[in-house]
Amino acid sequence: MNVALTAVGKLRLGVNIDHVATVRNARGSPYPSPLRAALLAESAGADGITAHLREDRRHISDSDIEELVRELNLPLNLELAATAEMCEIALRHRPHAVCIVPERREELTTEAGLDVITHRLRLHGFVKPLRDAGSRVSIFIGAVPDQIRAAFDIGAEVVELHTGAYCDAHIEGDFVARDSELRRITAAAEFATGLGLEVHAGHGLTYDTVKPVAAISGIRELNIGHFLISEAVFRGLAGAVAEMRRLMDEARNGSRQ
Ligand code: PXP
Repeated sequence: MNVALTAVGKLRLGVNIDHVATVRNARGSPYPSPLRAALLAESAGADGITAHLREDRRHISDSDIEELVRELNLPLNLELAATAEMCEIALRHRPHAVCIVPERREELTTEAGLDVITHRLRLHGFVKPLRDAGSRVSIFIGAVPDQIRAAFDIGAEVVELHTGAYCDAHIEGDFVARDSELRRITAAAEFATGLGLEVHAGHGLTYDTVKPVAAISGIRELNIGHFLISEAVFRGLAGAVAEMRRLMDEARNGSRQ
């Protein structure tokens, strides 16, 4: 993989704590606490905390969001679907950032980016009140220039590029597809930056796949969850986050040569 791309500026790490809540909910116990995980992630080098309030509340709950908003020192990036209920919740809490994601109840995770072109009108009506309330609005999107332009047109300030296909190709050992996905993400980041959008990326990233993405110059933030919470079983959450931070910094600094 080509990690020798020019990279400038600090790359922020947003730690997604959804799956701390997944473990808690599996037994209906009061532990483990997503807030405690967030505070630990902060002490280990996270720059932000991400949580996805799903319509079915399968992991993060309304009271988790209330607690995070009340207690967190780091910026909170609240992921949600573009529904009236979620809009009302976001407007009530006014988090630092809101990332609009597609959501289907039957999916295991957020499988693809939003189709902004098809849902342009509805999404435009969602973005404006959130921005007016002071949240930065981001759209989770595939690495497709027309979708990125549509996100820009409806007033998003940030696009988060879906890295799932790149990570899946790596796991499947299809390195031709993986490198082609990486090129698509790189080109999309450049296109979005050219429009004046801030670019984030995430989904499925691990220690094995993070560095080439971290080396892409236009990307300012990575949001990573499932792997970090999984790795925490073996090395503790602080150690898992610190290692991700180290790899991201290495990719960024290495690419400055
Ligand atoms: N970014 C967005 C917009 C997401 O929806 C998710 C998954 O909730 C992630 C990043 C993190 O993905 P993962 O948990 O696979 O690291």
